[in-house]
Amino acid sequence: MKRILVLFAHPALKKSKINKALRLAIEGMEQVTVHDLYAAYPEYLIDVEAEQALCEAHDIIVMQHPFYWYSTPALLKEWQDIVLEHGWAYGSTGKALHGKIFFQVLTAGGGEETYQTGGYNLFPVGELTSPLRSTANLCGMEWLPPFAVFGVHRGLPPDEVVHHAENYRRVLLALRDGHFDVEAAKGLEHMNVNLDAIIEG
Ligand SMILES: Cc1cc2nc3c(=O)[nH]c(=O)nc-3n(C[C@H](O)[C@H](O)[C@H](O)COP(=O)(O)O)c2cc1C
Repeated sequence: MKRILVLFAHPALKKSKINKALRLAIEGMEQVTVHDLYAAYPEYLIDVEAEQALCEAHDIIVMQHPFYWYSTPALLKEWQDIVLEHGWAYGSTGKALHGKIFFQVLTAGGGEETYQTGGYNLFPVGELTSPLRSTANLCGMEWLPPFAVFGVHRGLPPDEVVHHAENYRRVLLALRDGHFDVEAAKGLEHMNVNLDAIIEG
């Protein structure tokens, strides 16, 4: 079984609907560590050594967060800035993350149709998440397209929330247990556009 680290970043969890529901669906899963960054570091004083040790102890690293200005919430950006050190994450001796799988679980206020070339948000989510794709690449990680939930602003009906939460759990189970077609997933704009194509069984 692969070990999965979920770096969870939401600065206003009490108000959260979708991230809270997604998180509930995967909490308590065997071999899955949910690490709430805003709870751990309310003053933004990240313990770099502890974070690096956590990463080293897992095979798959997931960043779960709401899309904020087409990017991550500030604490998760701070995490990238100080945890991904030269000589540890990248550079000639920086191989700590080599071979680990990386992907984002992101929730967006805008509908999927707004994330098209020339659309309301100008670019597809695949292009907007390219900085983290390049980061993963530089760190020798195996990048996967994001698990993306769109249209949160219009108010997702409860059955859609349940559907996304079940799919998230399904993705983590498949990755953990080796039933996930990594190569097939890489060709998708966001992985949950067609989970049946990438999850066996
Ligand atoms: C500071 C801030 C920036 C945001 N930026 C974006 C954005 O760039 N694109 C988008 O679709 N939604 C954006 N949103 C909406 C959030 O992504 C949305 O409210 C969130 O995904 C809802 O998740 P929750 O129910 O877990 O809080 C933003 C919200 C805030 C507060």
